[in-house]
Amino acid sequence: MKIAPSILSADFARLKEQVSLVEQGGADWIHIDVMDGHFVPNLTFGYNVVEAIRPHTSLPLDCHLMIENPENFIEDFAKAGADYISIHFESTNHIHGALQLIRKNGVKAGIVINPGTSIEMIKPVLHMVDLVLVMTVNPGFGGQSFLNETVAKISELYQLIQKHHYEYIIEVDGGIVPETAKICKEAGAEVFVAGSYIYGSENPHEQITNLKHAVN
Ligand code: DX5
Ligand code: ZN
Repeated sequence: MKIAPSILSADFARLKEQVSLVEQGGADWIHIDVMDGHFVPNLTFGYNVVEAIRPHTSLPLDCHLMIENPENFIEDFAKAGADYISIHFESTNHIHGALQLIRKNGVKAGIVINPGTSIEMIKPVLHMVDLVLVMTVNPGFGGQSFLNETVAKISELYQLIQKHHYEYIIEVDGGIVPETAKICKEAGAEVFVAGSYIYGSENPHEQITNLKHAVN
C-alpha cells in the first residue's frame, strides 16, 4: 500500500521543505496535480515544478495531468523527471497513442477516469497501462467529499486484473481520509492520494501514519 501526498494542498512558497516533510513522515510517492484551466476549472503549474522538485526527493513523482491534449506535454514531463504520467481518458481523442507515447519516453503510464466515466470506456487500453487512477471526486480542487458511487468501479477494475492478468495497480484520488481509504483498499486500491488530509494538518506525519494504519 502506498500513500501519495498531493502537493496541491502544500505551501507553494516552501515547496522543497513541504516535499521533504512528507518524505520524512513516511510518504511513498509525491502526487503532482497539473491543471490547465480548460480540462478542469482551476490552474496550477507545469512541468517546471516537477523539474524543480526532482533533485530534492528520492520518492517517485506521480504526475496527474488534468490538461487538454496531454500528448503535447508528455515529453516535457518525462524530461523533467516524472516517474508516472497519468492522463485522463476524457482529455484527448487519442488516448491509445498518448499512452504509447508515455511508455516510449521511458515513464510508467497511467489512465485516469472521472466519476462520470465508466470502466467500459477504458477496457481497450487496460492491457497497456501501469496504473489506473479512479477519481473519487470531480477533478479540479482539493478538499471535496468522497463520492461513494466510485467504489464499484474500483472493485470492477480489481476483478479485471484477476480475470485478464493485467499489470496495473489501482490508485484513488479525492476525499481520502482513513475511513474512505479503508473502503477503497477493501475494493482493491493500492495507492492512496491525499491532499488536504495531510497538508491541511498541523502534523502531517501523524496523518500519514493514520492513513497507513487504515490500509495496512
Ligand atoms: C483533485 C486532485 C487531487 C487533490 C485531492 O483534482 O486530483 O489530487 O489534491 O485533494 P483532497 O485529498 O484534499 O481531496
Ligand atoms: Zn490528483
